[in-house]
Amino acid sequence: MSVFVVSKSPALSGSVKISGAKNSVLPILAGCILTEEECIISSVPPLNDVMVMIDILKKLGATVNYDVKKEKISVCCKDIVSFEEESEDAGKLRASFIVMGALIGRIGKAKIPMPGGCPIGSRPVDLHLKGFQSMGVSIEQEKGFVFADGSSICGGKVYLDFPSVGATENIMLASALLEDTTVIENASAEPEICDLAKFLSKMGVKIQGAGTDTIKIQGAKKLSGVKHKVMPDRIEAGTFMVASAITGGDIILENVIAEHLKPVTAKLCESNVCVEDLGGNKIRVFVKDKLKPVNIKTMPFPGFPTDMQAQFMSLLAVISGTSTITETIFENRFIHAGEMVRMGADIRIDSRSAVIEGVEKLTGAEVRATDLRGGAGLILLGLVSEGETRISDIYNIERGYYNIEEKLKGLGALIERVD
Ligand code: UD1
Repeated sequence: MSVFVVSKSPALSGSVKISGAKNSVLPILAGCILTEEECIISSVPPLNDVMVMIDILKKLGATVNYDVKKEKISVCCKDIVSFEEESEDAGKLRASFIVMGALIGRIGKAKIPMPGGCPIGSRPVDLHLKGFQSMGVSIEQEKGFVFADGSSICGGKVYLDFPSVGATENIMLASALLEDTTVIENASAEPEICDLAKFLSKMGVKIQGAGTDTIKIQGAKKLSGVKHKVMPDRIEAGTFMVASAITGGDIILENVIAEHLKPVTAKLCESNVCVEDLGGNKIRVFVKDKLKPVNIKTMPFPGFPTDMQAQFMSLLAVISGTSTITETIFENRFIHAGEMVRMGADIRIDSRSAVIEGVEKLTGAEVRATDLRGGAGLILLGLVSEGETRISDIYNIERGYYNIEEKLKGLGALIERVD
């Protein structure tokens, strides 16, 4: 089992290139199922979650060739031989549920394992299923599987009780081959939805309103293969922005879309961190004044992203004064706080709120990456803690960060991956 060993590091400096967005790649790969023609997707980082999705596509009958060095995948779904998601890991990867919409669209039915619970919350899929049902799809659940029969699928209105990212994507995929119009109300407005909409539009789907709460989709009977470059990962970018802030650094991030980073930038600026848009998809993040505590509430986009909450908790743990974080998206997304407390952080949790009193000194400890973003938060805290921080269960971190230790090392961080 590998661990990350992180030591107190100097202020980070230099440049880092941000990878393609994990949360964009997964639905786009599922979207390849919608056409018999070849799709070429570039800027695809070889993350564990991406590998699981490739395995799922292959088992459905797709031909997939991944040039890891060039970060380019070609997917051809001419011969989809199965409507059953059978990959061993499918139930483990929640995003694999996204294949359901694409299979309903392409072959009119799907049998998908019910995704299990997740450390950060129960994460049900009721909104996905209700959405499909509003489109005339019949749903049955049996022995841990969901069976969808889309033989009577039609367009119409789908209202989501909550702007779920995954449910919005699933409905978009299910409606892409329908000539009727489907309207998703109270849709998610996350940038990843816009990236999926761009990909589907290139294939021949007419989409209006992506990035707002109402998305109109008019599909086509046949979609074509396309080339698509995945948007930069705004959460990886946010994590490096915090890495610069927490170490008092001065770094340049390349391959970012500043607009996507607005909620994170706003909170960093409020905390006295300087963020400069250099143009050409580059930003500079640096510290020149004493940092100030801030209050954060996670919200759907354009609110502050829940996926950046743990990293900010690390930053706030070392800023003198009292900060608060309120988590409104997931019911149990503070598990990393317990590990941070073991390193000397002063964090009190009360239901969905955390009160953080900044401390002057933290001490490295043996901690566990309880989940993907919580694990990233622990790396950040390790960069400013005395002695060594040994982080176990780093597969959780590697689900969503490509080469994180090499990228951090390139900026001067003291981090090693020990096998
Ligand atoms: C996606 C992201 C994840 C991010 C999250 C919120 C991917 C692969 N993952 O996850 O990194 O943290 O958006 O920005 O893109 N919910 C229900 N019923 C449903 C669906 C969701 O109650 O059918 C609840 C969830 O339990 C959660 C909230 O809605 O409390 C938001 O979930 P959702 O937006 O669906 O997140 P994901 O798409 O799973």
